[in-house]
Amino acid sequence: MRALVTGGAGFIGSHLVDALVARGDEVLVLDDLSTGRRDYVNPTAQFRPHDVREPFESRADVVFHLAAQADVGTSMERPSFDAEVNVVGTVNALEAARAAGAHLVFSSTGGAIYGSVEEPAREDSALLPVSAYGLAKRSAEVYLDGWNRIFDTHHVALRFANVYGPRQSAALEGGVVAIFLERLAAGEPTTIFGDGAITRDFVHVDDVVRALLLAAEHDGGVFNVGTGVESTVADLHALCERAVGVDAPPSYGPARAGDALRSVLDTTKASAELGFTATVALAEGIAATAP
Ligand SMILES: NC(=O)c1ccc[n+]([C@@H]2O[C@H](COP(=O)([O-])OP(=O)(O)OC[C@H]3O[C@@H](n4cnc5c(N)ncnc54)[C@H](O)[C@@H]3O)[C@@H](O)[C@H]2O)c1
Repeated sequence: MRALVTGGAGFIGSHLVDALVARGDEVLVLDDLSTGRRDYVNPTAQFRPHDVREPFESRADVVFHLAAQADVGTSMERPSFDAEVNVVGTVNALEAARAAGAHLVFSSTGGAIYGSVEEPAREDSALLPVSAYGLAKRSAEVYLDGWNRIFDTHHVALRFANVYGPRQSAALEGGVVAIFLERLAAGEPTTIFGDGAITRDFVHVDDVVRALLLAAEHDGGVFNVGTGVESTVADLHALCERAVGVDAPPSYGPARAGDALRSVLDTTKASAELGFTATVALAEGIAATAP
């Protein structure tokens, strides 16, 4: 299969490219390297520097659209820039797929699109984004759904939980696992914002890649991609300490405005329709990610 991966030099995209190359696919990566790294791109894949805010073409059978401005803080400081990358960039990806007659898989977000939840979010739960990033991803999903209707395509949107694993940047917001592991390994202090009781659904990048590959074979739909397991940030910190082999309790700082208190995804639909269930347990995944 010929695959185009936008954002293929980034954290999740580069793992996806490795998996596609490993199974013998012909892979083209489009990335502007704003947060991605050229050396993360598998040498067997073709690399083309490109900013997805500008239209592009492809001869692919499947387009994985992962390029994004994925930093919530930046989205609030520069919402129009965020919209250009995340909304216009997605329209350009949909148009590239349309011109090539390709299937498209879009990387949306669970954490930022549902907002804080009272119970595991289902795909039909209320969408109440509290950031420009979440709004842009929601808007991009509206385009994807609309393009499916207007052009009779069957593109798929995946709403990822909090993804972690090797190559995640500790410099980017949201990379709490990478931040804890890097700082603990360097003997530097760590801080938890709030009382440590806020929860997230942490899903390993290998599981996310499997979901992306399944979505490439699937006709239409929106699917949560997480574990369905709710972990507190305090528990996560303890797992990171154990993985690094240190006893270094965090300090606690004031809660951050805009941080959802609870975020966890119901993955029943992905399991039933996509055949996807996360398999990497958090302790195991953290141990494999530790430097
Ligand atoms: N990491 C998570 O927990 C998470 C959760 C939900 C959704 N997502 C989504 O998954 C996708 C991948 O995220 P990631 O965590 O790997 O982040 P990342 O920042 O590592 O990857 C994004 C990639 O897109 C590239 N990029 C950014 N702007 C671009 C532009 N204008 N043109 C071309 N390339 C551009 C970057 O250089 C980078 O390589 C994104 O769409 C993100 O919104 C990630």
